[in-house]
Parts: sequence; C-alpha cells; structure tokens
Amino acid sequence: PRCIWLTRHGESVDNIVGKIGGDASLSTRGRRYGECLSRFINFQRQENEKTRRLEVEAGMAMSPQREKTVAVWTSMLTRTKETVEQFDPKVYDIKHIRFLNEIYAGICEGLSYAQIEQLYPEEFEARRVNKLFYRYPGMGGESYLDVIQRLNPLIIELERMTSDLLIVTHRVVLRIVLGYLMDVDRAKMPEMDVPLHTLYCVEPKPHGTVVRRFKWVE
Ligand code: F6P
Repeated sequence: PRCIWLTRHGESVDNIVGKIGGDASLSTRGRRYGECLSRFINFQRQENEKTRRLEVEAGMAMSPQREKTVAVWTSMLTRTKETVEQFDPKVYDIKHIRFLNEIYAGICEGLSYAQIEQLYPEEFEARRVNKLFYRYPGMGGESYLDVIQRLNPLIIELERMTSDLLIVTHRVVLRIVLGYLMDVDRAKMPEMDVPLHTLYCVEPKPHGTVVRRFKWVE
C-alpha cells in the first residue's frame, strides 16, 4: 500500500485494571479514541483527494491516484471491532482477521502481571529471561515467535496491496508488524514501545521506509 496506518485498539476496561488477554470492551476513553481515529483518517483521505484534484486542475498531477475505498483490518476481538465502529462501511472496506488477534496467553489469560508473578513465579521468570521464545503454557498458548509465524501470510498480502490500509490490532501484533516494516531485529521486537492511542503511518519509499507517529491529544 501507499500508506499503512497502524494502531492498537482504544483503551479497554481490562487495560485500566492491567489484565492481559481476554475479550473486553472499550472504556469511555477508548471509544473516544475510536471516534477521533475515524475523523482523522477521514480527514487524511479527503486531503489526499483534494490535493490530487487541484493538481489535475492545474495540469500537474504527480501525487499518486488513490483508490476510492480504504481497507480497514481489525482482529476478531471486541476491542478492535469497537474501535472502528465509527468508520463508514460505504467508504471503508472493513475486515476482521483472526491472524491479527493478540498473543494468546494460555493459563495466564485474564490475569495481571502481578498475579502471574505470584501464581506462576517460574513462568514469570522464564518469560522475563527470554520473551521472544517463551510460549505461554495451556492450550493454544503462544510465544512471540508463534505470532511472527502466523503473521507471515498477512505480511506477504500487505506488501502486495496497492491501496491505503489501516490496521487496528494489539500490542504484540503491532510490535511485530511495525518491527517488520521498520526492519527491526526480531529479538528487539518484544521490547518495542507501542503505547495505546498512538497512530503510526508507514510509507514505503524508494530510499527506505518513512514512519510518522501521531499521538492522540485528549
Ligand atoms: O495488556 C495488553 C496486552 O495486549 C495483553 O493482552 C498482552 O498479553 C500484552 O499486552 C503483551 O505485551 P507483553 O508481550 O509486553 O507482555
């Protein structure tokens, strides 16, 4: 795509209490982030169209002709779906994709880090020592490497696309996709700082990838 927009979902009620995993809904703040996000992306889309139109009128069209619909991909989880509730489905092609779900924490789903440390001190330590390789115990439990693996087909698809794309996902998936696009060593991905309510714009250019970061001001 010409521009890949990436963000985590708006703040969830579990984010407030520090619980990991689960399928929580957005908090009031999180909903407001979703509203702001839809207005901001709309604004960007209209600005691009306006620039292109003015260039055509002036006989100097050089900016890329963008496709009419913008693709929006979320995970299958409630908090990402709720984040894009304000997007007009006539303008945005919205898809919910299981590959974009957050890392599955197995027996640690729904716990806080403090609870994990207390209940499973050895697991907590093992993860601290090697976060990239550490796989959560329990059925379906994943590691960062597992998530990198499941994201592979999606990254291939992403590189093939020519339209603009917005991805609304979760902390681990965002670290991996952004890390991949920015050529970050996978060993460094688990420590990347990707706060909530922050939007990244990644533009692949001939001379390298340009990344811009937008922070929501409440
Ligand atoms: O707390 C939000 C969250 O997305 C959890 O669902 C997930 O387990 C965690 O962040 C991942 O972050 P880290 O890999 O740093 O524990």
